[in-house]
Amino acid sequence: MALSYYTEELKKNAAALAQPGKGILAVDESTKTVGKRLASINVENSEENRKAYRGMLFTTPGLGEFISGAILFEETLFQSHTDGEPMVKKLETLGIIPGIKVDKGLCPLPGGKNVETFCSGLDGLVQRAADYYEQGARFAKWRAVLQITEDGSPTNLSIKENAWGLARYARSVQESGLVPIIEPEILMDGAHDITKTAMIQEAVIKEVYMACQLNGVLLEGTLLKPSMTVPGAGCPKKADPQKVAEMTIQTMERCVPSSVPGIVFLSGGLSEEAASVYLNLMNKIERKAKWNVSFSYGRALQHSCLKAWQGSNTKAGQKALLARSQANSEASKGCYIAGSQPSSDEALFVAGYSY
Ligand code: 13P
Repeated sequence: MALSYYTEELKKNAAALAQPGKGILAVDESTKTVGKRLASINVENSEENRKAYRGMLFTTPGLGEFISGAILFEETLFQSHTDGEPMVKKLETLGIIPGIKVDKGLCPLPGGKNVETFCSGLDGLVQRAADYYEQGARFAKWRAVLQITEDGSPTNLSIKENAWGLARYARSVQESGLVPIIEPEILMDGAHDITKTAMIQEAVIKEVYMACQLNGVLLEGTLLKPSMTVPGAGCPKKADPQKVAEMTIQTMERCVPSSVPGIVFLSGGLSEEAASVYLNLMNKIERKAKWNVSFSYGRALQHSCLKAWQGSNTKAGQKALLARSQANSEASKGCYIAGSQPSSDEALFVAGYSY
């Protein structure tokens, strides 16, 4: 099917995902990564346990008031809840749009520097996206990763390759009716300061939109999922929340076209509380463009929830998830009061993190 067949639907679904006061729940950890999460609460990484955990998340009463979409791993998109009803149906009941991670992970970039990667999964993507649409998915995610190093990463090669991959992906899934979430993550690894992050992030995001232009991506039917403009985790000068908010909005204003309906940040290893506080401060700044500025958090929505759940405590897990979802919903409107909802200050940063 040509992209033009889906134009109105893509715009409608992108607008629904970016509606004010709501954000996205990222639960698309690969089987290996979710295994690390489950191991942290001594739960075995079996299909039954993954189903129990994600089934608990997707039956949280009232979650749809704060969450517009949930990004799933392929296993979950085709999985049923323990009660037999498909997970997709559970989400739809809550008014949450199901999405799917479509990339096939990072590979070393030939010709790039040590840490540099490209994101794989373009082959056969139009057809795979059509299969996911058939299964109920209405949006997709592709995560490209760049790292700032003292020896000159990201190189121009890696910026161009990752931008091109994101744009090719975006166009491919739009041809099958899925709204692409375009995710160029700049890792927090490194000791660089916030000015350096801003400079690199501007170069990366501008390149992404140039590649989108060349690939004919319908911008009104996309969302951007960037990292926030923060100093490296090892930077001696610690992040000042107001400065992070101002620099992040400045970066977005310099790079993101106003036809993009929403920017949904990743949490990238920030603590739950920091992720909410930074988002809240961003939403207090008057902006030049009208994009909705919200969240698409993984770790910063699930950390307390996993701890509360402990493998079987459904009510406690759901309560923790709802608390962080509400906090971030408030932050997306600039009215979050720090500490008003239970949260964790624990930094969730892990060097060289893979999702
Ligand atoms: P974090 O919020 O844990 O960074 O994850 C979001 C995500 O989906 C990364 O691809």
